[in-house]
Amino acid sequence: MKKLDMLYEGKAKKVFKTDVEDVYIVDYKDDATAFNGLKKGTILGKGVVNNRMSNHLFRILEEEGVPTHYVEELNERETAVKKVEIVPLEVIIRNVSAGSFAKKLGIEEGRKLLCPTLEFSYKDDALGDPFINDYYALALGLATREEIDRITELVYKINEVLCKYFAECGIELIDFKVEFGRHHGQIILADEISPDTCRLWDINTHDKLDKDRFRRDLGNVEDAYQEVFKRLGL
Ligand code: TMP
Repeated sequence: MKKLDMLYEGKAKKVFKTDVEDVYIVDYKDDATAFNGLKKGTILGKGVVNNRMSNHLFRILEEEGVPTHYVEELNERETAVKKVEIVPLEVIIRNVSAGSFAKKLGIEEGRKLLCPTLEFSYKDDALGDPFINDYYALALGLATREEIDRITELVYKINEVLCKYFAECGIELIDFKVEFGRHHGQIILADEISPDTCRLWDINTHDKLDKDRFRRDLGNVEDAYQEVFKRLGL
């Protein structure tokens, strides 16, 4: 497969065209941002961890019946993926109170929720990805009812598979964000699943093993990414 022109450079990844129909190459960077790009930094080795970890999880999810954009890992930082039209929704599941949920509701971080919650943000950097609901998404034409129902079904399945898998690795999945795309009329999982997009706590000590270490200046950021990588057997 030949890597052609760069199509897009995001905060953490670059996307390239290829000579294969419907296939793009994603290249993971070590760049890290938080608070909608206000805070900038580098997490050495993050691109490798996120690329390989995301691919590993996508392969597990595929086996469990979740369709994904994953095609083939090309090297440490690059992966071939199916071309999709991204649904402009950040889809977030929470199992335990943390982050913006804890802040908004005045609840301590770490309280186990009685059931997982699902929320949507409108993917729009200029607006700071505002919280919306499915009525807003329908009214703005961001997705159809059928697409939202399918996304809901898939994200709960993803949560079930990932909670079980991470627990086997000594990690509690506190919350996560995923994105979906349209591929030949089908909704498939796209983007990435990594310590950038999940809250991952040590199951016993509750040590944070994710991007909150960067967001909150907690130190040992690189170590946390490497620890997750190791626990997943990567
Ligand atoms: P939040 O508590 O800040 O709303 O974050 C919820 C989850 O979404 C958490 O696992 C981190 C992830 N997330 C992203 O992947 N990208 C983002 O831009 C933000 C704000 C959160």
